[in-house]
Amino acid sequence: MKILGIETTCDETGIALLEFIEEKELKFKIINHQLRSQFNIHSKYGGIVPILAAREHKKNLPILYEKLLKETKEKPENFDYIAFSYGPGLPPSLVAGKEFVINLAKKLNKKIIPVNHLLAHIYSVLIPKNKLNVYQKIKKIKFPALCLLISGGHTILIYMEDFQKFKKLGETKDDAIGESLDKAGRILGLEYPGGPKLEKLAKKGKPIFNLPRPMILQNNFNFSFAGIKTAFWELVEEIKKYNKFNEETKRDLAASYQKAVFETIIIKTKKAYEKYKPNSIIVTGGVIANSTLRKMMIKVFGKEKLVFPEKSLATDNGIKIAFAGYFFKNNALEPEKLEINPLLDI
Ligand code: KG4
Ligand code: ZN
Repeated sequence: MKILGIETTCDETGIALLEFIEEKELKFKIINHQLRSQFNIHSKYGGIVPILAAREHKKNLPILYEKLLKETKEKPENFDYIAFSYGPGLPPSLVAGKEFVINLAKKLNKKIIPVNHLLAHIYSVLIPKNKLNVYQKIKKIKFPALCLLISGGHTILIYMEDFQKFKKLGETKDDAIGESLDKAGRILGLEYPGGPKLEKLAKKGKPIFNLPRPMILQNNFNFSFAGIKTAFWELVEEIKKYNKFNEETKRDLAASYQKAVFETIIIKTKKAYEKYKPNSIIVTGGVIANSTLRKMMIKVFGKEKLVFPEKSLATDNGIKIAFAGYFFKNNALEPEKLEINPLLDI
């Protein structure tokens, strides 16, 4: 079975072609995947400009699709489905993706599998590296499980009875953790997206600055990252006043900010862990591309309990949309029935 996956929820245009070879053991291969980031477009604005993101998706989708066909010599008639991430996301980006997908599906006479972007992040932890098959990865996850979804748009703690039964325990009340790292990066003069650049800078710094750990004393599983960003901005302004905003200070500031937000999510996750006593902890979403956070998590919860996606698959791409599509193929629709849902939840 061949599934073409398409991702356009935010600022990454992703297309991937996956083939499920042995369905019982869930063996599959990635035939090809294409990804185009829009970092250079949005970096000068310090964040994503939705209308520009949509324009780029519109421009890039046909280019990437043609590139995929050329590199694989695949015949589109042989695709079984087109999986598309229909939300949550930026409305203009989703509309640009939807138009492309509907036209393609009509042209090829294929059905579309609508994929929830958040579920695709969760299912992405099952995508194996090299020889392991999906089945072996599924066996690593012991239910009930706790899932921490940390991305540029979301920060959610979920209790999972299995792969279908979810209960949201808490979420951010303002900024998402990735958004907060991106904004801290901007305060330090780093280009968008700040998360990976802050990580690099923080590696050479010392976490010597005091910053709050928001909401850790509250008896709930919600998060807030807007206040800590303001505290960080005030700290940086103060440092600038004393002419101490040099490279060494920037590294220490990056290390301090990262430590504060990472400790915050770990403290909250630990509270949920103690209350719900899950057998596994899944951590997924773009922010878990961060090696420092992975190490901090392993230190607290141990390697056995934790399930992460492959590092290269943590951030948005078409592979995880095609992959999740496989599990939702029974929801496949005729192209004209496809709708986007910018506010879709888990
Ligand atoms: O999952 P994702 O690609 O998109 C959303 O669904 O939002 O996550 C993007 C977020 C951005 O905020 C980005 O800065 C953050 O993930 N991110 C990182 C790292 N790589 C990406 N944050 C910290 N460290 C990283 N290495
Ligand atoms: Zn994402």
